[in-house]
Amino acid sequence: MQTIYTLLVAEAKQLIAGEASITEKLQAICDLLANKVTHYDWVGFYFADAEQRLLHLGPYTGEATDHTVIPFGKGICGQVAVSNQTFLVDDVTAQDNYIACSMTVKSEIVVPLFVNGKNIGQIDIDSHTLNAFTQEDQLFLEKLNQALATLYV
Ligand code: SME
Repeated sequence: MQTIYTLLVAEAKQLIAGEASITEKLQAICDLLANKVTHYDWVGFYFADAEQRLLHLGPYTGEATDHTVIPFGKGICGQVAVSNQTFLVDDVTAQDNYIACSMTVKSEIVVPLFVNGKNIGQIDIDSHTLNAFTQEDQLFLEKLNQALATLYV
């Protein structure tokens, strides 16, 4: 069955194969996901500075955030920088180690981006709906990040 996710992976692969810069491609993918998936209200990338142990905000679509730099270990994003594992949060109010970007955010998913086995950053998606993300989102975003990894080799 063709789901919206199958179509989005195909569209993202076309963008990735295009002539634009990496930043433009990442921005186009943020725009695509935020526009096409109803429960994706904020879509952005953070990239790791492994030496400084800091994440830096890259392209994003949605409300501007104060959290342009996040230390490893802090918040959902910072924890993923350390754990190297997808973090799916059904209800952000149940998390002690959480950085609120907006009071309207209810759930979140953060998926690491691996290049040659190294966690170089992540895609972060916020939703204004509780329990918004499923295994399907996780598989989709992991597939998307695998495709994005080709930009960095
Ligand atoms: N909520 C994230 C911070 C980033 S904002 O969602 C854009 C966190 O807890 O790491």
